[in-house]
Amino acid sequence: MRIIALLLIAFCLSVQHSHAQGPHPGTVETRMVHSLNGHWRIIVDPYENGYYNYRYEPYDASPNPSRSAYFSDAAPRDKSELLEYDFERSDSLRVPGDWNTQKERLFYYEGTVWYRTLFDHAPSSPSNRTFLHFGAVNYRADVYLNGKKLGHHIGGFTPFSFEVTGLLNATRNSMVVKVDNKRTKDAVPTLNTDWWNYGGITRDVRLTETPGTFIRDAVVQLDRKDPKRLRASVVMDGANAAGQTVRLTIPELKIDASAVTDPSGTAMFSLPLRSAVRYWSPDDPKLYDVTIRSSDDTFRERIGLRTITVAGTSILLNGTKVFLRGISIHEESPFTKGRANTREDAVTMLTRAKELGCNFVRLAHYPHNEQMVRMADSMGMMVWEEIPVYWTIDWRNEATYRNAEAQLEAMIMRDRNRASTIIWSMANETPVSDVRNAFLGRLAARARGLDSTRLISAALEQSGLPGEPNTRSITDPFAETVDILSFNQYIGWYDGLPDKCLEVQWKITQQKPVIISEFGADAKYGFHGDTLTRFSEEYQEDLYKKTLRMLGTIPQLSGMSPWILNDFRSPRRPLPVIQDGWNRKGLYSENGEKKKAFFVLQKYYEQKKTGR
Ligand code: GCU
Repeated sequence: MRIIALLLIAFCLSVQHSHAQGPHPGTVETRMVHSLNGHWRIIVDPYENGYYNYRYEPYDASPNPSRSAYFSDAAPRDKSELLEYDFERSDSLRVPGDWNTQKERLFYYEGTVWYRTLFDHAPSSPSNRTFLHFGAVNYRADVYLNGKKLGHHIGGFTPFSFEVTGLLNATRNSMVVKVDNKRTKDAVPTLNTDWWNYGGITRDVRLTETPGTFIRDAVVQLDRKDPKRLRASVVMDGANAAGQTVRLTIPELKIDASAVTDPSGTAMFSLPLRSAVRYWSPDDPKLYDVTIRSSDDTFRERIGLRTITVAGTSILLNGTKVFLRGISIHEESPFTKGRANTREDAVTMLTRAKELGCNFVRLAHYPHNEQMVRMADSMGMMVWEEIPVYWTIDWRNEATYRNAEAQLEAMIMRDRNRASTIIWSMANETPVSDVRNAFLGRLAARARGLDSTRLISAALEQSGLPGEPNTRSITDPFAETVDILSFNQYIGWYDGLPDKCLEVQWKITQQKPVIISEFGADAKYGFHGDTLTRFSEEYQEDLYKKTLRMLGTIPQLSGMSPWILNDFRSPRRPLPVIQDGWNRKGLYSENGEKKKAFFVLQKYYEQKKTGR
């Protein structure tokens, strides 16, 4: 019996290693970390020859995988051993970064690339725990450490971590990551998207050390019902998680309170705010230094305090009606013209939005990197975040739902302390059906369960009323669930010419705030013509003028995020000379040049801001 018990414990520990939830990814930013960014060796492997033997059996199904498996990272022991790979003599890629824009030969590549890095690491204390963090890998990552599989992750835009305590050598640890960005019908997103399928380890990779019992997660927010009260929850992880005294301090608010964790390792705070609070807003993006201490660990964050609610057809920030002067943004670097992931990328894009007169950005169509939301916190920009439940998702597939839900949870868990994030969006332009409504309804319930302090939305379907071709209304059933009614509309581009904007009647009956989450037209910077010459700057400019006039007839209008700040890459846009693989709806070209429509929107936002 004893042998069986020991085997059971060993099995549980091994399973635990492959799925251990490390420190809340959000705290990684503020912990001492060992960055693993840099140039990693790579092997391009379209046949997954490093993962399957010639019978197409996975090498890692065996407890003693063949040394021919690339994740073994082996070198021939002697002349008799034949190995047909060698990371030491292979090409390399920069991490973080997509492979498409780093190597011409990988520009359109969709498949597996193996990454390998070597690193030394000696824990600074024998009782510490060590975690391996990835900011994101697109799309599937299988992670091996010193030839042993840690586990895998699916989803191209959310962080994940593995506990590696006790698995590291002091020197020459080999980490091998199999990255596969093949698109599949049952994935999230699915096969078809209007953006580039950038593959790679696209965000930071870090090792983090924590004490044996550490603060895995902490959320500090205003009480949703009483902005004069502060709520916080702290989750400890480790052998002594229960019965720990945790101390919350926010010196500027004269807060210094303690609580004891319950048997699950959780401590809750609900505190009156006696000092005057500077509520976070785009005009005053005040962040407070928050420190949470346990006996062995310290959690530090900079957190803004604000409320975001809806009342009738209005959106209220800190109780005051606000109009969301927004713009949509894809996560594409103005510098590398590939996946954005640096602070400079974030500052550049948010600065352009500020210059446009924005107080709001829609981060389309997936969770952006953490730099973007942290810079929005400090620069003062409200944020719409979304998961890539986009177009024709495999609604009937439970694994697809679990994937979407896992991405939603990871996005919310990462950004729950970001005052700038005000909206979680469940989906974009998804065809209405019963299974789709059920799928989105589950996601909305899960989002509200994780975070009741923010608003839920989605880019809903809009349509004409039967027999009234020039009317538009929102008949999408998901409109009943969302807090904010959002939809994309392209009257004047995909639907008629710009003058059609002046004929259409919007008949929106729902008494909820309305955000137009997309409108726009393609324009090639520097291509000029009359207002009916498609792809000219004048056409795009005229469409903006007529669209803004049309939208002014919607009484519930509470904001917009026109499509889009910058031109961006898409394999669906091949029109020679004009598109050449770029979606040209940007107000900036991919080289940072402003188009004429930029000034139309800038003037409109200036008038909105001054109330004229
Ligand atoms: C859609 C979609 C975007 C796309 C845009 C376009 O609304 O949401 O992802 O890029 O239209 O066609 O340009």
